[in-house]
Amino acid sequence: MNILNLKNRTIASQYVATELIKVMKARPNAVLGLATGSTMTDVYRYLVTLINANDMELNSIVTFNLDEYIGLAPDHKQSYYTYMHQHLFNHHKDWNKSNIYVPKGIAKDLQRACSDYEQALRNQGPADIQILGIGENGHIGFNEPYSPFDSQTRVVDLTASTINANSYHFSHIEDVPKQAISMGLDSIMSAKRIILLALGSRKKDIVKQLIEGQISEKLPASILHRHDNVEIIVDDEAYGANN
Ligand code: GLP
Repeated sequence: MNILNLKNRTIASQYVATELIKVMKARPNAVLGLATGSTMTDVYRYLVTLINANDMELNSIVTFNLDEYIGLAPDHKQSYYTYMHQHLFNHHKDWNKSNIYVPKGIAKDLQRACSDYEQALRNQGPADIQILGIGENGHIGFNEPYSPFDSQTRVVDLTASTINANSYHFSHIEDVPKQAISMGLDSIMSAKRIILLALGSRKKDIVKQLIEGQISEKLPASILHRHDNVEIIVDDEAYGANN
């Protein structure tokens, strides 16, 4: 696991966007594993800029998003489907809708939605690159503490701390869904390369625990120590550089 402090949000976000465009340039049918959250907004802003600057072929690029809230329709303001379209897909007409995979949070048969998603990932994958944020409790995707390391895409219950951390996107904390569909930890680990981005002082404690190196289901992100191509990209605040 390589840990790199890129000092600030701008440099770190530009780095991740550059790594994504490099993969897309090298392989027109690349498979990208994508993440949401406030951490990623500048990554997608720079990626849009780089796509426009490079006349990219997007039609055959395949993307898999890590997670989606259960109960939110794709056009709900706070759905991750909406987030991805607002920040990335709506910015270029050549993204191929049938190559965009976001778990279906309002499927009638949620178990089926999970297994279809996992199957698509296994058929189209492995992801050439997976980007990840991290929750303050160590979750990746919505794999909360004590998620099994061998988990695949499934319905998960969100912890009170995650509901609280994500509530600022919603008008009332009661509006935050209590469940989600998340790519599993085993599914995430199937990616050829993983970049985890952690920014800001809110992430300092969890980054410290992660880099201390103990591998435990209590800290879901610690599974990344078992992957041989992982970078943890942080800024000064998440690194605790100023203390
Ligand atoms: C959310 C998402 C994660 C994301 C994390 C951090 O709950 N499910 O995929 O990485 O929490 O979010 P943020 O970047 O807003 O801190």
